[in-house]
Order: sequence, then structure tokens, then C-alpha cells
Amino acid sequence: LAAWQLGSSAPRPQEALVLETRFTKLVGCTVPIQNAGMGTGVSTPELAAAVSGAGGLGMIGFGTFRGSADELLPHLERARSLTSRPLGANFIVRGGADAPPVNTACLAAAASLVRVVELFLWTTPDPRSFDVIHGGGALALCQVGSAAAARRAVDAGADVIVAQGYEAGGHVIGTVGVLPLLGEVLEAVDVPVLAAGGIGTPRALAAVLAAGADGARVGTRFVAAAESRAHPIYRQGLIDASASDTVHTGAFAVGWDAPHRVLRSALEAAEAFEGDVVGARPGPDGTAVPIRRFGVVVPAAGYTGAIEAMPLWAGQSAAGVKRVQAAAEIVSELAEGAERLLRRWA
Ligand SMILES: Cc1cc2nc3c(=O)[nH]c(=O)nc-3n(C[C@H](O)[C@H](O)[C@H](O)COP(=O)(O)O)c2cc1C
Repeated sequence: LAAWQLGSSAPRPQEALVLETRFTKLVGCTVPIQNAGMGTGVSTPELAAAVSGAGGLGMIGFGTFRGSADELLPHLERARSLTSRPLGANFIVRGGADAPPVNTACLAAAASLVRVVELFLWTTPDPRSFDVIHGGGALALCQVGSAAAARRAVDAGADVIVAQGYEAGGHVIGTVGVLPLLGEVLEAVDVPVLAAGGIGTPRALAAVLAAGADGARVGTRFVAAAESRAHPIYRQGLIDASASDTVHTGAFAVGWDAPHRVLRSALEAAEAFEGDVVGARPGPDGTAVPIRRFGVVVPAAGYTGAIEAMPLWAGQSAAGVKRVQAAAEIVSELAEGAERLLRRWA
């Protein structure tokens, strides 16, 4: 099974069929696992390509990207050059008067290069964005936090829904646990549904698949992947954390005001920090760009200062992070473990 997931051209083994879902068939991947797009700071083209190479859907994260399509293309082309398997690009679509509009040229550029373009919607879905994605030849995914939002996204053109539960790391739109949310969303829409939030072990993956999900989106586990650019202190924080060591808060609100889940130690360190600037990140011209206390920027390799007081986004899935691992190893550990558990009931 592992050799087949890594790209063997041999016929699909019978034992893999448990993990075939509407999502894997639609997207063309072989295991129902998607890594979360986690901004260019953490989720690199190498991470996306490694997840896709292992049979999942590898996502390149652009967050609230404000640049041009020309700036976006090198990331996509780099990932494309590393794998021929399906890939995706993730964009956060913010609401509010000060939010930048989604750059249509970026959506079109992404759609022409990858199988899936995904919108994390914090506002009313705009059918024109879905037309651009479909026009470029890609599928449209939407991460939402309620059944009503899932219905609106599908009405606007979404092909797959990601239901994000309250357990999730990063910015959290969901207000209830992933299992109750999943049930409501599956009742509300007919398209494939992925579950997101707190899924960091084979048991959790098996649970959402058994509950009817077409797959899982996994974020926190991949922050500690060898291919991620997360700062070593951030990764170590995840390795040390248990499920109860995260907190849902609105504290890291400089840059974008939305609820999020973070390591409790980061919140405590930011609260105890004296001063307005916690550290710096490398700027494009070699300068150091200051990072404000309670800013939303996730610390990547090369950041300096009080890393422990920066937003160390983490889901309750942090308990599943035991060490830094290759992304392909994380995919196969989750997929093979979930499959073993599901076979007990099959
Ligand atoms: C470090 C980090 C950054 C994230 N950035 C994004 C993002 O840019 N776009 C997005 O759609 N979701 C983002 N998320 C949320 C994920 O899509 C997903 O809902 C979450 O990771 C699932 O919970 P888990 O972390 O417990 O697996 C991020 C999550 C983390 C941990």
C-alpha cells in the first residue's frame, strides 16, 4: 500500500479501497487527506508536493495574499515541478470594509496550474470567484464553519466543502465541535465534505471517515513536517503540547481581527511580554521587519526575537505531534492507521 501511495504504477491494491471517497475520486488523489494551506511562511511548495506525492492533496497556502499573479506563480510552478499529482492553492477571503478583494488574476493563475483552488470564506461567497476558478479548469473548495455557510458556498459554485470545527488551529470560523458540525453539513449539501479541526491521529481520521466525511484536512500535524518552514521553537512547542494546551482566543488581533486557536504558552508569553515589538522577520531587501506584540504573523525559520510570544497557531490535534517527520510519513501514518481501525468494523 505504501509503495502504491508513493506513486507506483501498479494496479490499485484491494486493501486501499476503504479510503476511496467522493473526494479522492473527484480530485484524483489516493488518500483522503489534505494538508491545510498555512500561508507562505509555513506551507511551502515542498510541503504541498510531498503531501501530493504521498497520495494526499497538497496545498500551497497564500493566506490573505495581496501581491500580483506574477509573484504567485513561482510558488505554484515550484510545486508543480516537484510532482505530477493533484495540487491545490489556498486563499483566505476576508470580510469587512478594509479587507482587500480577492485578486481575480491570482485566482485565474492558480486555477490554470493546479487541480484545486480553495477559499477560506469569512464573507458572503461571490459566484464570480467560482466562475474564475472553474474557467481556469480547477475545482473550487471552500472552508466554512456552519451548515448555512456550506449551503451558500455550494449555491455560489463550490465543488467541495471543508467543515472547520472549533478544535481547529489557526483562524477558526467554526463555533462547534467538528463531529456535530460535520453531521449538519453532510445533511445540508450533496458535494464531498472534508472535516477539519483536531484531526491529528489515525483514530481521529477514522472517526470522521466513519461519520461520513469524504476526507480530512490536517493543519497542525504538518506544521511540524520536515518540509514546513515553521520556526524550530514553534515546532518544539507543538511537540511538547497535549490536546489541552491550546486556547481559543481573539488576542492575536493586530493585522486581522478574527478568533483563533493557539498554544496557551504563546498567549501567556505575549501577555507577559513588555514592549510593543516582539521580534523581527527578514524583509525582501535584507532589512528586519518589526513584528508587533499580538500580531498575526506565524513565526517561520529566520524570524528573530521572542518567538515564544508570537502566535503559535495550534489545534487540539497538537497532541498528535510527537516529532518532526517527513510529510509523506505523516500521510501514511494517518492513512494506514485509520484504515486498520476502520477494517475492524468493516
Ligand atoms: C499554522 C496554521 C496556519 C493556518 N493558515 C490557514 C490559511 O492560511 N488558510 C486556511 O484556509 N486555513 C488556515 N489554517 C486553518 C486550517 O485550514 C484548518 O482549519 C486547521 O488547521 C485544522 O485544524 P488542525 O490544525 O487541528 O488540523 C491554518 C492552521 C494552522 C495551524
